[in-house]
Amino acid sequence: PKEGSGSAVPSNPTTEPRVESPQPSEPQSTAPQQASGNPNPETLYPDSLDPNIDVQNYTLDLRVKPEQNQLDATASIQLKTTQTVSRIHLAFYGLKISSVKQGNTSLKFDQQSRKVTIQLGKTVPRNTSITLDIAYSGVPRPVLEPGETYEDGIGWKKHKNGIFVLNEPNGAMTWFPGNDHPSDKATFKVSITVPSKYLAVFNGTAQGSRNTGNQTTYTYQSIEPMATYLTTVHINQYNVERSTLNGGVQVRNYRPVGISKTFQAAELAKLPDMMRFMESWAGPYPFKEYGVIFTEHPTPYALETQTLSTFPNRPLKDWGFLHEFSHQWFGNSITPKTWSDLWLNEGFATFFQDLYQYPREADLKAFLKTRHTRNRTQQMKPPYIKEREELFSQRAYQRGALVLHALRYRLGDAEFRRILKVYYNTYKFSNASSEDFIQTVVKASGKTDLKAFLESWIYGRLVPDFPELYR
Ligand code: ARG
Ligand code: ZN
Repeated sequence: PKEGSGSAVPSNPTTEPRVESPQPSEPQSTAPQQASGNPNPETLYPDSLDPNIDVQNYTLDLRVKPEQNQLDATASIQLKTTQTVSRIHLAFYGLKISSVKQGNTSLKFDQQSRKVTIQLGKTVPRNTSITLDIAYSGVPRPVLEPGETYEDGIGWKKHKNGIFVLNEPNGAMTWFPGNDHPSDKATFKVSITVPSKYLAVFNGTAQGSRNTGNQTTYTYQSIEPMATYLTTVHINQYNVERSTLNGGVQVRNYRPVGISKTFQAAELAKLPDMMRFMESWAGPYPFKEYGVIFTEHPTPYALETQTLSTFPNRPLKDWGFLHEFSHQWFGNSITPKTWSDLWLNEGFATFFQDLYQYPREADLKAFLKTRHTRNRTQQMKPPYIKEREELFSQRAYQRGALVLHALRYRLGDAEFRRILKVYYNTYKFSNASSEDFIQTVVKASGKTDLKAFLESWIYGRLVPDFPELYR
């Protein structure tokens, strides 16, 4: 989460002003307009996505000189067309492509600031499998987004002794060409070649390393589908710590050698407890590996990179680790269909963070009452976000979490848990939208009045009443 997210509670909740409800009891639904054809059009990052393709696999071969921050790479992209097309486009920023090939045929391409357009040479019907081999190189540059406060932007970041990436939402294009959108998940096979004094890390299963002279190539594979924003590369010198969770999940934790070997060890020792907590809420952990990697840099936020969460070099509470861990289910296994649906990640992670932080119901209620009251005073806009510069604001986190807390009090804990599992099992390893969530809850509960209830919490301009907190 962002620094301090969810934790900025006034020390004495009882002194918070009690805000009388200024709104009508039935807030107006501002559900997204259903555009003809695609019911889930991307309106915040339309250029990151080519809706006419579905990438199956990225095979990336990255050769990195960390001191010079030089990247020489090939991307082999296996995709299927979902429409009849004669050209496709991939998000790509700052690096220079030298060739695009389909088999032995060189294809024409045209690079613009944030994308490359590739001419397929003929019209290709839908459902055709195509493999493109793209060679590129250069010095990766982070991309700066409106509303983004992190230095020069996101994506591939060079720091004192190494390199790391923070992609969310559109930084993956700073180091590989792709369909850089959460709706198009794919498998990955990645090899990273670095001078042998470095260790290079990627998500998924570590498949070993090969030493050739003074270079070492590390290979990783991610067989579960992964969104581009959840991929991560870290290059540095690390102390690595391995263990096994649940008798099966392989844990690998990485701390740069400049960081104490026991940094955040007490919080990480709670991982088995966090595993029990999350599995009781959502069901089995979705992947075969987990771990955390610390950056040398005190980045402004942690990121739930798939199977290997990225954490800053500054102390975080145990619930900060729980937040990122819970994203493995909500965000990584179930991924939003559009960026406007981001509360399905952040609202859920904040909800679990709250429950973990306040195991006693009375404490949780006092905390939520303060948040609800404050969100009303601030007139916080809905968690479904249509303004690009507000994507990572507290709207998705705090008002997003209130959707779930309100639903839990309305249904009761047992019924809420049952329905949460239905939602998770319906959409795991896939994508979901806010509408999918609403429909699942209405259908699984058999309560049609929950449609208007959830719409007011998710799309309503005003923060709805939360009577259970004020009794
Ligand atoms: N998803 C991250 C989390 O768990 C936060 C990412 C913030 N991203 C950004 N570009 N500001 O909370
Ligand atoms: Zn989060």
